[in-house]
Amino acid sequence: MPFSLCFIGGGNMARSLIGGLLARGTTADDIIVADPFESARQAVAEQFGVRTTADNIEAVRTARTVILAVKPQEMRNVTIAIADSLAPECLIVSVAAGIKASDIRRWAKDRAVVRCMPNRPALQGSGMTALYATQDARSDARARAEAILKAVGSTLWVTEESHMDVVTAVSGSGPAYFFLLIEMLEQAGVQLGLTREVAHQLAVETAYGSGLMAREASESPATLREQVTSKGGTTEAALKHLEAHNVRAIFADAVAAAARRSSELAQQFGTP
Ligand SMILES: NC(=O)c1ccc[n+]([C@@H]2O[C@H](COP(=O)([O-])OP(=O)(O)OC[C@H]3O[C@@H](n4cnc5c(N)ncnc54)[C@H](OP(=O)(O)O)[C@@H]3O)[C@@H](O)[C@H]2O)c1
Repeated sequence: MPFSLCFIGGGNMARSLIGGLLARGTTADDIIVADPFESARQAVAEQFGVRTTADNIEAVRTARTVILAVKPQEMRNVTIAIADSLAPECLIVSVAAGIKASDIRRWAKDRAVVRCMPNRPALQGSGMTALYATQDARSDARARAEAILKAVGSTLWVTEESHMDVVTAVSGSGPAYFFLLIEMLEQAGVQLGLTREVAHQLAVETAYGSGLMAREASESPATLREQVTSKGGTTEAALKHLEAHNVRAIFADAVAAAARRSSELAQQFGTP
């Protein structure tokens, strides 16, 4: 039976995508998952009813779209090994952090590539994914890649691949910044006398509500911040302290460090 969607790697990201796709009407018969580990194959087959195999080459043969969902350090060897078995018009979709589309295209013997940078909340169906396509990816192939990633959240396209390092630093690593903020807010509440449970709930729900507001509101985040900061009030006292300690410059430097690291990883796992 021909499978049009093939996942190489049956880990967390693949499972989230498969769950999202099935919920949106893709049939399990259309999907095959290749993973060398029996336990991963069994988990995917039981959870989703899709076919699995340990043989990457068998899996890709009839696929119109191959989704590479292995760790960045595996990408080169995995792609080179399947290259001769890919259909000529096959689209490669990569979710691996830091691996350049031009490297994948070369390893895949010139198949069109869409490189994606999803983030952790994709595992909950609330991800943010940026996509970048090689020049030769046709519009129907781009639409196919976008539909796959839309199954786990929101998507946008970037037109320059160098921007993927910045995307990685902003939205790829971004969840960790927000988790840190929740952690710090919770800890501050505890230090000021709240129980852990109370401080945790206050911090998490405040993050959730603020995220929703920032997403839905027509005002900018700066305006929303000003609207909750009355002159001489409690919020102003906290924000003045943060600004006096250069929180903006520290944050900008931190995000720049992440972007630099993304570019270094691309060098490390990329060419030849
Ligand atoms: N999870 C996220 O939040 C997230 C966010 C953004 C991007 N990504 C990207 O998504 C990719 C996958 O991440 P993940 O979190 O899903 O990782 P994961 O859970 O470790 O999944 C990778 C899967 O691929 C399997 N695998 C390893 N070598 C293989 C091979 N030669 N052929 C076929 N399958 C192979 C792994 O098996 P073993 O575990 O036994 O090695 C594992 O089941 C990574 O490149 C990552 O950069 C993930």
